Amino acid sequence: MLKYLTVNNVSKVYQAKTALHDANLEVDRGSFVAIVGMSGSGKTTLLRMIAGLEQPTTGEIRQNDRQVTSINPQARCMFQDDRLLPWMTVSENLTFGAKDKEQRARAQRLLETMELMEFSNYYPTKLSGGQRQRVALARALMDNPELLLLDEPLGALDALTRLRMQDLILKITNEQKITTMLVTHDVSEAVRMANRIIVVKNSQILRQLDNPYQGVDNENGKLRRLELVDEVLDIIYHG
Ligand SMILES: Nc1ncnc2c1ncn2[C@@H]1O[C@H](COP(=O)(O)OP(=O)(O)O)[C@@H](O)[C@H]1O
Ligand SMILES: [Mg+2]
Repeated sequence: MLKYLTVNNVSKVYQAKTALHDANLEVDRGSFVAIVGMSGSGKTTLLRMIAGLEQPTTGEIRQNDRQVTSINPQARCMFQDDRLLPWMTVSENLTFGAKDKEQRARAQRLLETMELMEFSNYYPTKLSGGQRQRVALARALMDNPELLLLDEPLGALDALTRLRMQDLILKITNEQKITTMLVTHDVSEAVRMANRIIVVKNSQILRQLDNPYQGVDNENGKLRRLELVDEVLDIIYHG
C-alpha cells in the first residue's frame, strides 16, 4: 500500500557539516510519530525538509506520492517560540485581519476549542506562555492541514501546562485525523503521545519503535509505557 509520507535516502549537508545522513522513513496517514534524540542530532533538519523549508542534499521526500520540492502546502508547523505577531490580537493572528466570513467563523470555533474565547481581543504579550502556545496551535490549524509538524512546541511550558497541551493536541489531531510529527527531547512525552517513535542519533535514524500502548489507559498500559521510555532512553544513550 502507498504510504502517506516517505523519506527516501535523505541526507542534508550544510557546508562541511552533515546534519542528517541517509534517512529513511515511512509515515502512515493519520498516525502520530515522535522524533526523539539528543540536541544536534538532526531532528529539526528532518522536520524542516518535510515542511519544504529546506531541500535535501540527496534523496527525496514524497507526500501523497508527490515529491516535496518547495514549501509544503499540506503541512503546518509549530515551534517552541509561538511566533505570533505582537501587533495583532489573538483573533487577528488567526485570520490576519481577513474579512472573510468563513475564516472568521473557523477562527472562532478554534478559539472555543482552545478555551481562548475570552482572550480573542488580547494582544499576545498579555497572555501566559501556555495561552500563547494554544493560539499558535489554533493558527496552525486554520487552514485544515493534513500534516502537523511540531518542533518542541511545549519545551518552554511548565509541567502541568505541558500535560494539558499534550491532551489538547492529541484530542484535536485524533478528531481531525491529522497526521502529526512531533520532535521532542522528552521521551515520556513521546511515549505518551505517539504510536511510533523514531530515535535519531549522530545525524542518523537509529531505530523506529512501535508504541501499541499509546492511549491505553489501564495499569498495564502505563507500565508498558514506562518500560518503553526506559528502552528508548537506553537506545539514545547506548544504542
Ligand atoms: N542552517 C544550518 N547551517 C549549518 N549547520 C546547521 C544548520 N542547521 C543545522 N545545522 C547543524 O546540523 C546539526 C543538526 O541540527 P538540528 O537538526 O537543528 O538538530 P536538533 O534539532 O536535533 O537539535 C547540528 O550540528 C547543527 O549545528
Ligand atoms: Mg531542534
